[in-house]
Amino acid sequence: MKHLLGIRELTVNQITHLLDTAQSFLDISKREIKKVPALRGRTVINLFFEPSTRTRTSFEIAAKRLSADAVNISISTSSVSKGETLLDTARNLEAMAPDCIVIRHSSAGAPHHLARACSASIVNAGDGAHEHPTQALLDALTIRERKGHIEGLKVAIIGDILHSRVARSNIYLLSKLGATISVAGPGTLVPHEFADLIEQGVRIEPRIEGAIEAADVVIILRIQRERQTDAFFPSMREYAVHYGLHLNHLSFAAPDAIVMHPGPMNRGIEISSEIADGGRSLILDQVTNGVAVRMAVLYLLAGGSARSENGTNRSQKSKNASPGSNPSAREGERTRGSSPTNRGPQRRSADGVEEGSPLGVVARDGSITKERRERTRNTKPETRN
Ligand code: CP
Repeated sequence: MKHLLGIRELTVNQITHLLDTAQSFLDISKREIKKVPALRGRTVINLFFEPSTRTRTSFEIAAKRLSADAVNISISTSSVSKGETLLDTARNLEAMAPDCIVIRHSSAGAPHHLARACSASIVNAGDGAHEHPTQALLDALTIRERKGHIEGLKVAIIGDILHSRVARSNIYLLSKLGATISVAGPGTLVPHEFADLIEQGVRIEPRIEGAIEAADVVIILRIQRERQTDAFFPSMREYAVHYGLHLNHLSFAAPDAIVMHPGPMNRGIEISSEIADGGRSLILDQVTNGVAVRMAVLYLLAGGSARSENGTNRSQKSKNASPGSNPSAREGERTRGSSPTNRGPQRRSADGVEEGSPLGVVARDGSITKERRERTRNTKPETRN
């Protein structure tokens, strides 16, 4: 695997391999000396254009526990704020020979864009309304750890399904591993055509109780306070009453049901504190497992075994061999050439996105369309978790 851009492209074997590798890394974080030399001499750059507590920190900790050098760049400290394009930023970072670039961006397709142009491995740490693959992997690891398996489980996902990259990646992953999925949320946030997204089908329930009925796993999604002025539901208070998870809801779930939330949480809105801090909540286990998952991802993408004997970066050699990489990305690479100097000038918008770049919107089938960003602007909310 060359990049981790999304769950949609992964096979069941690749997902299982990632989870098994993460499982083997769990133990390292419990040791007194939480460090192994697996990625000594490798460099990981965290390039975050959106706020993050969990994902950015756990990628940094993961890199350091594997002895890699970790560098963190946020939009406020990067030259994107001076008008540099995303691609120029990435090319300049790449000129410093990182092995892996982890990117979070508000535009769907930003990681794919870098994967086409960079030799380093690219990891998607959340792109617009598209995917958040490491969140889905850490959720799956947490479920597997508690339940022993994923196949046959009934999973309920509650909240803003439409704009959630966490929901999208989780639905792909859990469906591939044999779980059945029900979703519930305000009708404006759970469109019926969403079921078409997943080949296996997703059951859409009008009420939270229907989705939670006999559920083994309940995943609650965040509602953004900043969307309060949007008309997706009348008020936060109303949302909390109808779609917030309260103790009485859990009586509909399986007796040993677990509750998860990707964070950050809005206590008292989408989840009550009684549940968030209660015995069924695995919210902090998710965060713990996130470090192991990110260690596994970095290890498998930038790992020593993939490096050639003479020390050249394996990424130069295996660019076209990735089973998980986007075929169009490989095509793009062939036509572009590899030298930054032979790429022509590109026009760009104010936020650093080049004209003609593939950053776009998420189509119903889960792919990223090449439509221009105007459509993204017209679909009101930005994604978050
Ligand atoms: N779950 C998640 O992505 O959290 P952060 O936004 O804090 O990274």
